[in-house]
Amino acid sequence: METGYTAAQLRAAATDAVRAPSLHNTQPWRFRLRDGGIEVRSDPARRLPATDPTGWGVRVACGAALFNLRLALAMAGTPATVRLRPHPAEPDVLALLRPAAPRRPSPGEQALYAAIPRRFSNRAPFWPDPVPADARWRLGEAARAEQCWLELLIGVSAVAAFAEIARGAHRVLERDPTYRAERDEWVRTEPSPDGIPAAAGGPQGEPQDLLPTRGFGGLDRAPGRDFEPEPLVAVLGSPGNTAVDQVVAGQALQRVLLAATDSGLAVSMLSQPIEVPSAREQLRQSLGRFGTPQMVMRIGYGQPGRPTPRRPVDEVLDLPVPHP
Ligand SMILES: Cc1cc2nc3c(=O)[nH]c(=O)nc-3n(C[C@H](O)[C@H](O)[C@H](O)COP(=O)(O)O)c2cc1C
Repeated sequence: METGYTAAQLRAAATDAVRAPSLHNTQPWRFRLRDGGIEVRSDPARRLPATDPTGWGVRVACGAALFNLRLALAMAGTPATVRLRPHPAEPDVLALLRPAAPRRPSPGEQALYAAIPRRFSNRAPFWPDPVPADARWRLGEAARAEQCWLELLIGVSAVAAFAEIARGAHRVLERDPTYRAERDEWVRTEPSPDGIPAAAGGPQGEPQDLLPTRGFGGLDRAPGRDFEPEPLVAVLGSPGNTAVDQVVAGQALQRVLLAATDSGLAVSMLSQPIEVPSAREQLRQSLGRFGTPQMVMRIGYGQPGRPTPRRPVDEVLDLPVPHP
């Protein structure tokens, strides 16, 4: 079939795509129709210069949005074939989706799609209940299905070694006033279509915490208490670290997040040790895995919460001007 996607198909699928996570909820994506294909483009105006100087976070977020877009198109019976970075001269064009042969969505796609509106970053402490083996296996499968790996840190010493790297990275970032100013700029105390609502920012960090919290406002917390029992920490990695690898990692991230949501698990992300190059290298070496760490997740059973706002979908669509 070579008839191409329509504006209505793009709009419907983009409504799901924008539910993807992004650094500080910047939503750095745009979608457009071009010659019957759908392009996923990064929005350079929404990159965070101090926090994300290389554009890694933009590409991971756009990859996550791309995964939702793929799922939505498959659910509509119009699945896509995807080419990443199809035009080397246009680095903002991260993916081109063209219609593949129509088919019914698989049960797996249906389950992941249903999880899109339920997923959110849960920064509250998790319950002590361990994540069962079958759920752990499913999360690893989700990463592998998107050509990535997921390393679960097992045992007190592995988690403690990671936590030291993460806290070190956090200290490095916190020393930079432009980084802090950028973060504070994206915390919202009034209703807003982007940024992090202060109520979603999680409790304030305390000196005894194992893992560093990012400091998005911070809900009050009884001082001196442990945040939670030892959480499950997972590192997502990709085979390389090119721009394409980062878009691949974003798709894998979203697949893992949706599989977790469908399994009843809560997740928050932790990217300080990815953002500081020396910490990322330390993490890579400590895992002894081939490839590059792209994201860290804290996974467990969480208190109820709610999805964060998004901009109206029409703000991120570039539709062709109709001919008179
Ligand atoms: C590349 C990337 C890095 C992120 N890093 C962190 C982080 O270090 N700490 C954190 O709490 N959330 C982090 N997040 C989660 C975003 O803050 C979150 O996705 C965004 O605020 C939207 O909220 P939602 O996930 O509830 O939809 C990250 C997300 C992405 C895509």
